[in-house]
Amino acid sequence: MASPQAIFRTERLIVRPYTAKDRSFVLDMYSRQEVQRFIGTQRPLESMEEAAALLMRWRSANSINPLLGIWAVTLRATREPVGTVMLKMAPLSADAQPMPLSDDYEVGWHLHPDYWGHGYATEAAAGALQRGFEAGIAEIVSVMHPDNAPSRRVAQRLGMVYVGRTRRYYSAEADVYRATAADTPMLTN
Ligand SMILES: CC(C)(COP(=O)(O)OP(=O)(O)OC[C@H]1O[C@@H](n2cnc3c(N)ncnc32)[C@H](O)[C@@H]1OP(=O)(O)O)[C@@H](O)C(=O)NCCC(=O)NCCS
Repeated sequence: MASPQAIFRTERLIVRPYTAKDRSFVLDMYSRQEVQRFIGTQRPLESMEEAAALLMRWRSANSINPLLGIWAVTLRATREPVGTVMLKMAPLSADAQPMPLSDDYEVGWHLHPDYWGHGYATEAAAGALQRGFEAGIAEIVSVMHPDNAPSRRVAQRLGMVYVGRTRRYYSAEADVYRATAADTPMLTN
């Protein structure tokens, strides 16, 4: 089967939809405590069935608005998946599950630990911001656990501005960063 069409490309990466074939990678990544530690929206995956179910949930969430999604980050050089990047509506804090969505666009990033330390999260997120801004979105937030220093550094490398600490999203206290179309330089490719 041909590989799915790219959502966008950056210098070193191709961001594309996840497919069912990615379930071993998704299980390997999201079963790890160091990946799940600050995510909080789901407990670590334990089986291939759970990975497949997660991919199905993402696929159905992605079908609502073609601009938005939770996508696989892959290396241009080898086509291997290395993580996840997302552009979506941030969920509002609520007792109900699933949490209702806010009107705020959110960018997010998760990498498999084998691929930390290469700038891939920053590069993929820069592409996601560009995609959103080119479509006319005026501002995009990033929401992170206050102790998630690597994620904070990604936001800072992206030039995002610290907004403050809030319980507005994800039913949890979090630090919020914001990028605006006016202040974000565009990638060249
Ligand atoms: C958050 C997370 C994606 C950050 O990963 P990361 O590898 O540190 O981030 P990047 O891919 O942007 O890489 C940046 C690092 O690579 C280094 N680097 C090496 N080559 C680089 C390059 N060509 N370009 C940019 N940075 C490069 C940078 O110096 C930086 O290291 P530093 O932060 O120690 O200074 C990762 O810790 C993760 O997946 N955590 C679990 C999931 C999670 O918590 N996600 C965030 C939820 S809000």
